[in-house]
Amino acid sequence: MSITVVRVGSPASLETLLPGTADDPGQPGPGEIRVKLAASSLNFHDFAVVAGMIPTEPGRIPMSDGAGTVEAVGDGVTEFKVGDLVVSTFFPDWLDGAVPSASFARVPGDGIDGYAREVVVTPQHWFTRVPVGYSAAEAATLTCAGLTAWRALFVDGAVKPGDTVLVQGTGGVSIFALQFAKAAGARVIATSSSDAKLERLKALGADDLINYKENPAWGMKALELTGGVGVDTVVEIGGSGTLDQSMMATRVGGHVALIGVLAGFAGPVQTAMLMAKNLRVQGLTVGSRAQQLAMIAGIEANGIKPVISDHFPLVELAAAFGHQAANKHFGKIVVDI
Ligand SMILES: NC(=O)c1ccc[n+]([C@@H]2O[C@H](COP(=O)([O-])OP(=O)(O)OC[C@H]3O[C@@H](n4cnc5c(N)ncnc54)[C@H](OP(=O)(O)O)[C@@H]3O)[C@@H](O)[C@H]2O)c1
Repeated sequence: MSITVVRVGSPASLETLLPGTADDPGQPGPGEIRVKLAASSLNFHDFAVVAGMIPTEPGRIPMSDGAGTVEAVGDGVTEFKVGDLVVSTFFPDWLDGAVPSASFARVPGDGIDGYAREVVVTPQHWFTRVPVGYSAAEAATLTCAGLTAWRALFVDGAVKPGDTVLVQGTGGVSIFALQFAKAAGARVIATSSSDAKLERLKALGADDLINYKENPAWGMKALELTGGVGVDTVVEIGGSGTLDQSMMATRVGGHVALIGVLAGFAGPVQTAMLMAKNLRVQGLTVGSRAQQLAMIAGIEANGIKPVISDHFPLVELAAAFGHQAANKHFGKIVVDI
């Protein structure tokens, strides 16, 4: 028996990202589950792998996010039973506590094979339950983007009612951050390059909107919107190209959650402002399995559903990434398996 998979080509590019087949992984051993995957979702990190920006082995199966139904359980499996809907974790070995390493060597879809395939057999702790009422497609948005936004706001940060949170753009992480911050009772200032997307952010609950293309000094604009005080938290997905504006937007003693690199991997930073404003700029990489379970409980308590922009079939994964690269999405792009 064989299953359908998509593999990173050589050299890695969207043109060489092609469907193929692999051997069925068989039945689970002790402590393992066999999951019939039904959905994955795209992250910028996955794009960087399939496009060759992050070096990986030729033939790597991409995609860090996967959700599906448990088809069989091995001896000693206690957390799941056949028929359960489950979702993958980003760092399979990081169960709880502080981040154990800076390495992506064990991240599915990067250092090891990921979830662009029909079936997988893994240790049970590589997956968690999904929020009650979630479909596989909805669950598949949580592994990377959802958990990163959760950790930025509630693990590294301590967002509370009345706080002001600034989110940048309309990608997966930022829209989850908007939804989580609103659920926590925060005021949200949201930015986008597109007025049409800003209107959609407003419909999701954003309180104040800034077009960052029309307002290159959007950090000052955010400062004005808070009466010159500044926001409590910035969900920073741009990196070096946006950090100075983020610091400008942030209140004295505030927190910048440094998540992304969409506007640059390295560059000069206004270190004097960082010091003078007593800012905490904290880098983060997704989160632990325990944090994923806490996020799922938080999602259930607040009835949050992900914003899914588009669906593509697995065999059209390259087209899905083309859609992402063209910046046509709003929220998450899901791959149906
Ligand atoms: N550290 C971590 O653990 C972690 C986890 C997940 C993601 N990330 C990183 O976070 C970033 C976002 O990831 P994602 O998966 O959410 O990406 P995505 O869904 O592809 O988001 C892309 C969106 O970001 C916005 N954007 C692009 N450049 C921008 C800029 N200069 N200023 C403000 N917004 C900008 C655009 O929104 P508009 O079209 O509205 O302008 C674009 O649609 C990536 O760099 C990714 O690698 C890091």
